Order: sequence, then C-alpha cells, then structure tokens
Amino acid sequence: MPEPHDAIEVIVAKRDGAVLSDSQIDWVVDAYTRGVVRDEQMSALAMAILLNGMDRREIARWTAAMIASGERMDLSSISRPTADKHSTGGVGDKITLPLAPLVAACGVAVPQLSGRGLGHTGGTLDKLESIPGWRADLTNAEFEAQLESVGAVICAAGAGLAPADKKLYALRDVTGTVEAIPLIASSIMSKKIAEGSGSLVLDVKVGSGAFMKDLDRATELASTMVALGVDAGMHTVALLTDMATPLGLTAGNALEVRESVEVLAGGGPADVVELTLALAAEMLAGAGRGDIDPAAVLASGAAMDSWNAMIAAQGGDPHAPLPVARETHVVAAPSTGVLTRLDAMAVGLAAWRLGAGRAALGDPVQGGAGVVWHARPGDEVAEGQPLLTLHTDESERFERALAALDGGFDISAPGTSYAATPLILGRIG
Ligand code: URA
Repeated sequence: MPEPHDAIEVIVAKRDGAVLSDSQIDWVVDAYTRGVVRDEQMSALAMAILLNGMDRREIARWTAAMIASGERMDLSSISRPTADKHSTGGVGDKITLPLAPLVAACGVAVPQLSGRGLGHTGGTLDKLESIPGWRADLTNAEFEAQLESVGAVICAAGAGLAPADKKLYALRDVTGTVEAIPLIASSIMSKKIAEGSGSLVLDVKVGSGAFMKDLDRATELASTMVALGVDAGMHTVALLTDMATPLGLTAGNALEVRESVEVLAGGGPADVVELTLALAAEMLAGAGRGDIDPAAVLASGAAMDSWNAMIAAQGGDPHAPLPVARETHVVAAPSTGVLTRLDAMAVGLAAWRLGAGRAALGDPVQGGAGVVWHARPGDEVAEGQPLLTLHTDESERFERALAALDGGFDISAPGTSYAATPLILGRIG
C-alpha cells in the first residue's frame, strides 16, 4: 500500500510546476483507481500535467503505477518469440489486420490487445466485429492457447489490465486532457508492458488525422514511449508515419476488412502494403528473426492462411459476406486537374458521421458505413468522375458527412507537379 498523501497536495504541487515524488505518484494513481481520489480531483491533476509536463522519471513512475493497478500477463509459456505493434491511431489505419497474420506466418507470435474506436479514428475491434461471428472477448487462457496454436490473437484487453488507465482515459476524453504527452505515453505503454510481449513496434502517426499534428511533438512522444519500453526490458522501436493523408482507399469497418484481405491476397493499395511490410520487418527484427523477408511470406499466401485461422479461432467465418451499407452517395470531382490534398481528418470525421465510429463509449457502430476514395494525392482526376463514395445505412447521415468533407481536398490545375510526402517520416530506437 503506497504511503498516504492528500489529493490537494499532489494537485497543487503539479499546478505550481513541482516534480512529483515516487510516493506521491504511487499514491495518487492507486487512490484514484480505488475511488479515494475523485474524478474532479484527477481532472485537475491531469490538466496540471498537460500544462506543466512531467520529467522522464515521473513518467516512468506513473507508468509503473498504472501497470501495478492491474494484472501483468505472462507469455513465457509461448514457444515462439513475441512481438506486438501499436498505432497511436489514424484514419484508414487497418494495418494491424494484415500485419498480425503476416508476422505470425513468419514464425513470430503476435499478442495484440486492441481497443474500440472513439471519435474519428477507427478501432481495430470494431473492424473485426464486422466479420460475422467474430468475437473480441477472450479469457486469458483462450488468449494464450490461440497465441500458441495460431500465432496471432487480436482481442479486447480484459478489465484486469491497467484499470487505472481505463478510468483515466475516459476522464481525459471529457476534460480536454487527451493530448498531454506524459499521459498518452504512460497510457499506451502501461497496457503494452502489462501485456507481456517481448518486443514492441510503435507506429506514431503525424498529421491532421493524428493526435500529434507536427513532427516535433510526434518525435517527443515516440522517444518517450521508446524509453519507457526499453527501461521495462522490452525491445522497442518507433516509426513516425504520415497521417496527413488517410491510409489506403477506405475508412470504415467492413470496408477496411475487405481492403486488408486484398493485401493478404497479394494486392491492395501500395501505401498499405508498404507500411505493413515496414512494420513487419521491424517486428521480426525486434523478435530476433530479422533474417525473414516478410514480402516473400506475403507473396506465398501463408499470411492469408494465418488470417483465416485467426478469424476462425475467434468464431468468425472468414469467407462469409461482409456487411454492405444500404445507401451510397457519390461525391464527384468538381474540376479537372491533380488531386493535391485529401485530408485525413476530414475523411475520418465523415466516416464517423456516416456511422463507422461512435460518439460515446458503448454506442453501436455500423459494419458497412464509411468512405471510399477513388483517387489518392498525385492522381489526375476529371471533372464529374467519382472522387469519394459515402456508405451508410441511414441516408440522413449524408448531410453531416458532406459538411465534414467540405474543404477536405484540393484539386490543382492539370499538370501541377505533386511532391509526395514520404509515408515513413522517421525511426526512433
Ligand atoms: N491511445 C491510448 O491507449 N491512450 C492514449 O492516451 C492515447 C491513445
């Protein structure tokens, strides 16, 4: 039991710019988890942390306290090395779907505890739940058994893992304190360290559709998380990747599953394939299997076999038809020229408003809703050609989705030269 403190003493210390002691941090995280520190007090502390920051020692201690609030998984019985990936969240970011079975097919086990989407970024579990029969909730024993037999598990984190984070994340979401780097880093890394993987690759998104809008802040977040992982004895690297433009050609649950299956079948959009292979190479290297070429394994069809096994093991039918939205609306290109910008935030908001995402925890999502774009930045488009197709079960949603897309793309004069932003902007670790 941590040494007792007083909530006001801890809040005032951080409000006045002090560095919190280990015992203050241990106490406040534990007391908040037990309901002794109230939500309004933790809100004030979270805002003080957002405004005044935390040093490396404070962040490491805060992370350890969040891990200690719950259980730690032990994957030492798994016969293969383990590697996990975490994305800080983006639009059209379906990479986990082809990546987990691909890395499993390379002989490295992927234990992936994922979340549901909130706001404009989609959640991996929502995407997989569009597959008929698939279930996200596994017991710890089922999780470990599937990891050993199939080599890949994507499921919901149980209530026992970092409960302090579950409470604090919900509070941050409604108090304007999500963006604090110490709180994001400790939130993500407490769950990833508690999950027990031997290595971790972080995909830190940068741009309009990401938490981190600029490269400097994304670099700071990535370095903070890599240091936390390494200090906890986990091989950890981060890639900084572009999220000014959405990934692939689809945003929405079943739409993204379909695109992921195309990648597993050897096709799919070039950017999705590039990022899947880059992250796979990092995961394999982190797990000591850098000798394996993930592109060759993808081409062999073995990753598709792992996908089918992974979906079936969780009750899903990988061959069943996926949900299709009842209504569609086409947005035509307003002029002829070169598409020079497609804004990730605008597309993400539109998909969310069409019903692909939820406004509050527990809201239902539509399996078939979302946005398909028919051109990517750099492509020539002709006036009147379909640029985007909106999908939803409820046509009254089109108006607000179209409002989100207003100003969300630029078409420049024909022949305009377009300098593509690289997809991978940096690497830390
Ligand atoms: N994802 C998390 O799990 N936590 C955060 O704070 C932000 C993104």
